[in-house]
Amino acid sequence: MNVFGVDIGGSGIKGAPVDLERGELIEPRHKVLTPHPATPDGVAECVAQVVDHFGWSGPVGATFPGVVTGSTIRTAANVDKAWVGVDAGALLGERLGGMGVTVLNDADAAGVAEMTHGAGRGRKGTVIMLTFGTGIGSAVFIDGRLVPNTELGHLELHGHEAEKYASTKVKEDKDLSWQDWAHRVQKYLAHVEMLFSPELFIIGGGVSRKADKFLPLIEGIRAEMVPAELRNDAGIVGAAMAAGGR
Ligand code: BGC
Repeated sequence: MNVFGVDIGGSGIKGAPVDLERGELIEPRHKVLTPHPATPDGVAECVAQVVDHFGWSGPVGATFPGVVTGSTIRTAANVDKAWVGVDAGALLGERLGGMGVTVLNDADAAGVAEMTHGAGRGRKGTVIMLTFGTGIGSAVFIDGRLVPNTELGHLELHGHEAEKYASTKVKEDKDLSWQDWAHRVQKYLAHVEMLFSPELFIIGGGVSRKADKFLPLIEGIRAEMVPAELRNDAGIVGAAMAAGGR
């Protein structure tokens, strides 16, 4: 079965049709830049551009970088606050001409994809996927089952929100070396480990491509740490899986 997946992020909105059996994109993804401010109407227009690019008219799944209950947006840390309270499923569905749209948190989507088709395949116990990007997203799994809408990027660390201390945006803004950033990530992982004692951390987000530059620098974490395998496609694949009932 093929379903369309769209990943709505703070900098880009990207999507592609996904083969759910294989967990792979059927065609190269199409990306448009996220409008600023990233208002509901502006983002919906971009999602429509991405979907229309493929002439798609079936079910669609979309990620959102905030808490999503049902298909209503509850928080919007890194996109326009006008999203809070919006039924994103209804808004996007209407913009796409009445198609059904399933919406879920971006890190949850990426985690679901990794647990089925990537680094978390077959893993039992507590597994935590963390996505490092503009913010820090989290997806917690117990024996393969998602606990939705965890927001571990907003844990307090040294008096700051963790994502304002250890995201890749902070690395870029402060021009931190890999060593300095890895040190911050290590402190963050130690804090999450203290709270949850997971068996496995899956490290995701665009930076997972460069895992060899920072994962070997992280010490003293008991849990196994592995980079995400689906890289930047995890959100798209997970969104499509959610819409396809996987
Ligand atoms: C949001 C999360 C999101 C993460 C990654 C955080 O600021 O609160 O919901 O998963 O950023 O985009």
